[in-house]
Amino acid sequence: MKRDVTYLGTVIRVDSGSVEVEVSDEIPSAAPIINGRLYKIGQIGTFVKLPIGNVTLFGIVSSVSNAPSKVHDDQKKYDFGSRFLTIQLVGEKIGDDPFEKGIGTYPTINDEVHIVVETDLQQIYGRRDAGSIEIGKHSSSENLSVYVDLHKLVLRHSAILGSTGSGKSNTTVSVLKAILNDYQGSRVILVDPHGEYSSAFKDARVFRINDKLHPLYIPFWLMNFEELAFFLVGATSNDEQKPEHRKLREMVVERKTKNFDKLKAGNVDKNFITADSPIPFSVRELWGYMYWWLNASFGEAAAENQTEATARELTPGNYENLEPPTFEQYAVGNVAPYKSKKLQELYSYEKKLVTRLRDSRYDFLFHPGDYKDETSTCDLHNLLNAWIGGDQKLTILDLHGVPPEVLDITVGLITRFIYDSMFWGRDETYTGKNRPVLLAYEEAHSYLNKAEINSYAKYAVEKVFKEGRKFGVGAMIISQRPSEISETILAQVGTYIALRLTNSGDQSIVKASAPDNLISLIDLLPSLRTGEAIIVGEAIKIPSRVRIDLNIPRPTSDDPKLVEGWSKEHPANVDNYKEVVTAIREHKVRGK
Ligand SMILES: Nc1ncnc2c1ncn2[C@@H]1O[C@H](COP(=O)(O)OP(=O)(O)OP(=O)(O)O)[C@@H](O)[C@H]1O
Ligand SMILES: [Mg+2]
Repeated sequence: MKRDVTYLGTVIRVDSGSVEVEVSDEIPSAAPIINGRLYKIGQIGTFVKLPIGNVTLFGIVSSVSNAPSKVHDDQKKYDFGSRFLTIQLVGEKIGDDPFEKGIGTYPTINDEVHIVVETDLQQIYGRRDAGSIEIGKHSSSENLSVYVDLHKLVLRHSAILGSTGSGKSNTTVSVLKAILNDYQGSRVILVDPHGEYSSAFKDARVFRINDKLHPLYIPFWLMNFEELAFFLVGATSNDEQKPEHRKLREMVVERKTKNFDKLKAGNVDKNFITADSPIPFSVRELWGYMYWWLNASFGEAAAENQTEATARELTPGNYENLEPPTFEQYAVGNVAPYKSKKLQELYSYEKKLVTRLRDSRYDFLFHPGDYKDETSTCDLHNLLNAWIGGDQKLTILDLHGVPPEVLDITVGLITRFIYDSMFWGRDETYTGKNRPVLLAYEEAHSYLNKAEINSYAKYAVEKVFKEGRKFGVGAMIISQRPSEISETILAQVGTYIALRLTNSGDQSIVKASAPDNLISLIDLLPSLRTGEAIIVGEAIKIPSRVRIDLNIPRPTSDDPKLVEGWSKEHPANVDNYKEVVTAIREHKVRGK
């Protein structure tokens, strides 16, 4: 064997996970050519093999030195020029069996160590198992595809991490394309806060705010009461005892209950309806009702006699269009018309509510087109069918028009809704465990931040990471700042796809997840090329350095065009900015 061209040296020290090798001074070159291919000896991250009888152990070079790590008196003195490699053992192959992670047999002193050539690498990576996807090519060999186990990648959750510009978005496209091309029943929802992915996936269904064909709607009535009260009138849990808060709850329950038999997805038992049930009702009607009782005047003074029949209404208004009704001015002193005695505690809630409803930036929530109330044509089953139903494989939820202050609740609602549908539909043939879904979160650090205490998104996504697997919900986070992300989420990430990461805090996140003996591989993170990744974790047989193809067409974000804009001349025009000012006033981008 020592005469083999692959011979590298011998083992001089063994401990539980690592082996030290003295490189033979008889090997002619530090870069031998074997079967026409050049191999560089002692490159960190490359493989070596140790044939021990019927078993072949495989290891990764983790350090190179010109002195052994320990020199004992009784050991021979090493010549100047000797070279030593520390090898981390990663797996073994017994006879003709496939490569397996983990070590059953250890080498002993003087065992031979050999260079791993392409045919060996093919034994580790080359065979494509059923249920896998190709993620890229091994960095040391253009011909060598690296596969990951799809089940584990999706249902044990994953993370694509890397500094800005390291190639995360491109990697996301590669992974999703591999899934979508190979698995016709796959389904993925991609949460896309910068609206950059639709250009890369021509076949995807893209929902976008104000889009003519596929507008994004997230009906407000998906919120539980606490969320609804916060987003409609700014109420928090401290307000729970206030009369206006109780009244609001009562009015919401009443409206939801009343609609128990008007639901397009089927009637529900009204005894189960609470303020938190996702049942449609008209929030504009609620406002109209509040406004009417707050502002009406009556021919009668006593509260019990103040009714619609005794009201002195002049014009009925139109709550759908947020037009208030008008009434005869109530008189001063104890004469008709009398001021209303009901719902007066709702004075400030009504003002806040109408302000929110008039703000068109929130229309995707509070005026959600076909989902706006019980009279609408669509119900939640239509929303699920649109997002994850039928032969639709990829749905992109383009959130770039979502106001930053509601991004959190938006991601929270999307996640919770999908999770609930998978939980309650877990045994249905067309969803749940029988057709899992992957939720991919781009720019995850911006809404899954560990420092955020009251984050709806974080709470919902943490639940997916903790429990989603059982009901067929997998998740993938994509982020440039992993150190800012919720620890609960990171703790549940099964597979890391780590691109170039320069910040040491961010590197330590990946380091913590890598097996101890492979920390050296993680030390390569700052020096990776764009589009190169270290993949560690459950979905990959062996931690690997992988090159990911550049995808055409690419994801593009709608960034400001600085150079273009600054290179042009801009003639003066006194009418400029009128539209802008109107848009500021109306909270509405003109022409949309
Ligand atoms: N696999 C690759 N091979 C070659 N070039 C790549 C590869 N991946 C990305 N690039 C280049 O790097 C640029 C940035 O890639 P990408 O947008 O995927 O990075 P990112 O990590 O998502 O950045 P950001 O943090 O800004 O979102 C791309 O426009 C492309 O030119
Ligand atoms: Mg990106």
